[in-house]
Amino acid sequence: MKKTIRDIDVRGKRTLVRCDFNVPMQDGRITDDTRITAALPTIRYLTDHGAKVILMSHMGRPKGEAKSEFSLEPVAVRLSQLLEKEVEFKSCPVVVCDTIKEMAGSLSDGEVMLLENVRFRKEETKNDPDFAKELASLGDVFVQEAFGTAHRAHASTAGVAEYLPAVSGFLIEKEVKFLGGAVEQPERPFAAIMGGAKVGDKIPVIENLLKKVDTLIVGGGMAYTFFKAMGLNIGTSILDEENVELAGQLLKKAEDNGVKFLLPVDVICADKFDNGAETVTVDRDSIPENMMGMDIGPRTVQLYREALKNVKTVVWNGPMGVFEMPNFAGGTRAVAEILAESQAITIIGGGDSAAAVEQFGLAEKMSHISTGGGASLEFLEGKTLPGIAVIEDK
Ligand code: 3PG
Repeated sequence: MKKTIRDIDVRGKRTLVRCDFNVPMQDGRITDDTRITAALPTIRYLTDHGAKVILMSHMGRPKGEAKSEFSLEPVAVRLSQLLEKEVEFKSCPVVVCDTIKEMAGSLSDGEVMLLENVRFRKEETKNDPDFAKELASLGDVFVQEAFGTAHRAHASTAGVAEYLPAVSGFLIEKEVKFLGGAVEQPERPFAAIMGGAKVGDKIPVIENLLKKVDTLIVGGGMAYTFFKAMGLNIGTSILDEENVELAGQLLKKAEDNGVKFLLPVDVICADKFDNGAETVTVDRDSIPENMMGMDIGPRTVQLYREALKNVKTVVWNGPMGVFEMPNFAGGTRAVAEILAESQAITIIGGGDSAAAVEQFGLAEKMSHISTGGGASLEFLEGKTLPGIAVIEDK
């Protein structure tokens, strides 16, 4: 068990909190503030308990340069609105300068400030010890709250813990409870649903999950690589050519491990990659030569519904089809609805499946939606995340 902010006395302490405020932006406006709201319970707890709160985060990949389009200023504004209190912010191109030191030094108990994008310094992603020390000099204790960046060993996510006692915030605690609980001690039967386009990206995750799950359901673009491995004709569907052999090995491994491995039995095909394309729904062994699979078909939805009926834990990562196009969102929506109605513990990996669940208005119905894309995948892969490893044990 990792120490959390509940395990220490934060009153009067300068708490340096690493958040993941890497939120999507369009024309200087935040288009989705989920990652900001996810950190609020921790920030509120700290301010309510008299801590002086110094927040830090990255945004995008400015590659060590202070570029205004990557400034965290809009995040400070949004945070102030959400917290209903001022979040002090000064855009400092080197992140830690005399002004920032002075601001951090003169915070009163319960006050909040936000540092500029830590990736304005090239030392950040190199996990440079001097930069980590500069950051650490601002605080008395380090609070890890950036689950979305916990798979990166950077100065603000890992290095800083060399110089300060490190505890976790509530978001990290929740992510580890759900994702870790599913992988280590799932309530059974345990099913995983994997989707998305590339098998290559998900192979290590599938390999790890094959040791843990009772049922593995595959949909989305990666299904066609498995079909190819089974010797089926996939027309012009997306193919991860390099990984056909591996896909075949995974099917064999599932069989050896006694895991029920379900692939689509029918697919909705289109004559072009376009929402307005001509479509036909066919069995998986009848995909027309000149068409591509875009979504799972109705018989597949029925098959998946049956398979998920009595499960107690489900982890879902990756859409079932091209859900960005309304005509091919049906399969992904159906799976989201099945999980929303399920009594099981439902855990949604970050990225596209999280976006899909939000888009369908079903987020509230899930047990947990991870704020980590890459981080949740690495977690499900069974890897130790550097940002979590640095948190002290209880
Ligand atoms: C993410 O969005 O996955 C995290 O914020 C990490 O961002 P990165 O891939 O640029 O390190």
